[in-house]
Amino acid sequence: MPGVTDRVVVVTGAGGGLGREYAKLLASEGALVVVNDLGGARDGSGAGTAMADAVVAEIRAAGGTAVANYDSVATEEGAQALIKTALDNFGAVHGVVNNAGILRDTSFHKMTTEQWNAVQQVHLSGGYHVTRAAWPHFREQGFGRVVVATSTSGLYGNFGQANYGAAKLGLVGLINTLAIEGRKYDITANAVAPLASTRMTADIAPAEVLEQLDPAHVAPVVGYLVSEECADTATVLVVGGGSVQRVQLFANKPVLFAQPPTIDEVAANWDRITDMSGAEPGRNPLG
Ligand code: NAI
Repeated sequence: MPGVTDRVVVVTGAGGGLGREYAKLLASEGALVVVNDLGGARDGSGAGTAMADAVVAEIRAAGGTAVANYDSVATEEGAQALIKTALDNFGAVHGVVNNAGILRDTSFHKMTTEQWNAVQQVHLSGGYHVTRAAWPHFREQGFGRVVVATSTSGLYGNFGQANYGAAKLGLVGLINTLAIEGRKYDITANAVAPLASTRMTADIAPAEVLEQLDPAHVAPVVGYLVSEECADTATVLVVGGGSVQRVQLFANKPVLFAQPPTIDEVAANWDRITDMSGAEPGRNPLG
């Protein structure tokens, strides 16, 4: 089964923006797609069936195979029902693209616990719930593809997005361990930080920048990560506007102290401790 042909792929938040592009491309390449979308507003309020239904109709009109699902990824029950939609309609689940997302932007000084929790629940817990529900099926069939949507706001920080950035980098932490635990079952887990013109970015970047960021630039990279051919795992990519770039954590040569140093000794060595020349890809010394 080359590429994504006959693969059952769940794309969350696929009723618009990037998810819609992912779903359409995957279906055009022969995947059987579950188009999930809660159908709410950018801040996660509201719900409806129209968004997911419209994308399913587009896919079917183009000759592809898709089914809609309207559950929220933010709950365990919603995610279980989503994976059940894949199993009931197509008899399997081979890939999950954890793309659903909301924004509750505000400076950290003004952030409420409600704004913090809402964003964690959709992005980080949503990625957990959906992947957790698919995981036993991946293990059993000896094949699975997990993609998460991370963000440059998590990788590098962005004013007003402490809640969002934390959730997005949390997803990178998630795939790092899924990559290790999934390896022997041919389950890969990778992350894409997209840059695309959608309702999410409509008022965040200038119009002339957004013009360059057609979501169609991102979809083929997600398509490759879901495919049978891509065996890479724990890879993080920044993708948008025609650019595809890998991002990786590097660690420098450690400064070694035979005895616990004094604070003054730490201060005296600070330049060496923070010098990144000669840095190499980091790895878990306890793993
Ligand atoms: P979007 O707002 O067009 O798409 C997100 C979709 O998720 C919406 O259709 C929404 O209804 C759906 N959704 C929200 N909560 C849901 C829930 N609980 N359950 C199911 N569906 C839910 O935004 P966009 O730009 O397409 O974003 C897609 C993903 O890419 C998001 O995770 C976002 O954080 C991420 N991203 C996007 C960037 C960009 O430049 N557009 C930059 C970095 C990350």
